[in-house]
Amino acid sequence: MNRAAYLSAIPLVLCLAGCAKKQASTAQPAPAAYGTAIVVSSGDKQVAPTGALLSDPVVVQVNDASGNGVTGAPVWFDSEKGTAFDPAYALTDSSGQVTTNANLGGMSGNYKLKAHTQDAAGKRIDLAIDEVALGYEGQLGRTLNEQYCVRCHNPESTAVRVSNYDNLTTKPHPFTEGETLNKMSSDDLIAIISHGGPGLNKASEMPPFGYTLNKKEVQALVAYIRAVADPPYQHPGVLYAKQ
Ligand code: HEC
Repeated sequence: MNRAAYLSAIPLVLCLAGCAKKQASTAQPAPAAYGTAIVVSSGDKQVAPTGALLSDPVVVQVNDASGNGVTGAPVWFDSEKGTAFDPAYALTDSSGQVTTNANLGGMSGNYKLKAHTQDAAGKRIDLAIDEVALGYEGQLGRTLNEQYCVRCHNPESTAVRVSNYDNLTTKPHPFTEGETLNKMSSDDLIAIISHGGPGLNKASEMPPFGYTLNKKEVQALVAYIRAVADPPYQHPGVLYAKQ
């Protein structure tokens, strides 16, 4: 073996030990197929604290023109407002799906996570996935909601909580119902939470919480109601600024 050939063989030998693993983790598998659409299967509309991992994974599906899942199609996620994805790139599985864990960024508010695939012609196809990150105040409101409100305002029962919704004559709204709650001013929300239904000429089945909760807590509930509204709540100031 001449000297040049001997030297060039050294990295190869070193690589046998260390590089194989490294290459496997960074290598991106090549797409085997392409779809024409990308849709969300589950994991959208979650609410989590800022900087936290969403409790459920986000699952997206790539479909062909007849709506069937495509196996081996590329999917990649864009980090929005510092959101991290694991994995950020993958090929769809045998049901046409990719599952990723999303860790929200540090800003509170509405997140539109972006997932993409491409069609056979190389054209990018985009999908937006809505999630909500709660800051400190919103998190406090979420805890208070679990403690005092959800049993009437959410018609669903869980393993630990039986919903009282069906027993109520006047049906309250889940706080995610932006169509109704976005129309109420923040002053009205504070009034009905503090003084109960009659405070706004509404049913007395909505109890007053002004004795149980302090102003900061009522404010935190309003922040929570605003944060989870779907469609998102737009502060009146934002509307004026747009006009
Ligand atoms: C015992 C059941 C009950 C509990 C507990 C309860 N609510 Fe209500 N709430 C109602 C009912 C019933 C209405 C509907 C009143 C009406 O429309 O006349 C209502 C209405 C409201 C409304 C007006 C929007 C809507 O849903 O119609 C807000 C805001 C509200 N409640 C906030 C809260 C908050 C915040 C809490 C927890 C601190 C809470 N409620 C706890 C029963 C309840």
